[in-house]
Amino acid sequence: MARRVAFVNNKGGVGKTTTTVRLAEALAKEGKRVLVVDMDPQGNASSMLGWVWDPTQQQPTISHAIQTAADGAARTVVQPVAWDAPYAERIALAPATLDLESRMSEAGVSGAWRRLDMALDGVDDHFDYTLIDCQPSVFHLTQMALAAAHDVVIVTEADLYSVEAAKRVYEFVVQRAPKDLANPTLTVRGVVVSALAPTALQAEQRDSIRDIFGDLVWEPAIKVRTTLAEANTDALPLTDGRVAEPRAMYELLAQSFLKAVPAP
Ligand SMILES: Nc1ncnc2c1ncn2[C@@H]1O[C@H](COP(=O)(O)OP(=O)(O)OP(=O)(O)O)[C@@H](O)[C@H]1O
Ligand SMILES: [Mg+2]
Repeated sequence: MARRVAFVNNKGGVGKTTTTVRLAEALAKEGKRVLVVDMDPQGNASSMLGWVWDPTQQQPTISHAIQTAADGAARTVVQPVAWDAPYAERIALAPATLDLESRMSEAGVSGAWRRLDMALDGVDDHFDYTLIDCQPSVFHLTQMALAAAHDVVIVTEADLYSVEAAKRVYEFVVQRAPKDLANPTLTVRGVVVSALAPTALQAEQRDSIRDIFGDLVWEPAIKVRTTLAEANTDALPLTDGRVAEPRAMYELLAQSFLKAVPAP
């Protein structure tokens, strides 16, 4: 089975999706086979990986697999990514659309929090890592991810509200995973500092992140870079010269990932 890693923070816009997708890219470059599961109805990870929703087609998404509530239901959902890069063949995607919101209404159904775990059963066996991009919430969709995952990575910006949210998510995982999500071995393996700006205030917040999370904080912090944001919105891999610096940062971050997350 792949090592499943959920990327979380209940604050929005802190870099969860960018971290998930760019780590998937850097790990694929290292020769790892990576499945990205989009558990956010915004579908940003799907878009960044070049997946395009066509409302005229019945495209299978992770929402369908979860609704099916059957072992291995995600098998028909996993698909190749359309990036033009040699390592893209080692990345696959379980995409999401706004339809995933509909799964929220099933939160009260007995055992519904297990449905992502069921859907992935046997499906990610031939991947090294399954990276699950979560929505900015710790409600049902994220709980399904936490029930299915082995490891958690918290993504935060170096700003006060983001760090407060990171602390809440950490507590949530530690307190709720063992009993409520029947996942006693779920472990927070890392804290990624994203979109770091060169200001005194951000430097101060970064120090406070180190004080709070200690060795869990991965290096390097990812600096704020417009070229990275552009590559994200243009659904491009980090291949050309303009993104050499962000590419190098994520390659180093992937080394931190490989050190902190147990091998599959
Ligand atoms: N290092 C960076 N430099 C500049 N822009 C960045 C950086 N990292 C992410 N961004 C941009 O910031 C925005 C938010 O990033 P992202 O979508 O990864 O956050 P998120 O936590 O997944 O958001 P949400 O909570 O909505 O899911 C995006 O437009 C993204 O391209
Ligand atoms: Mg996101």
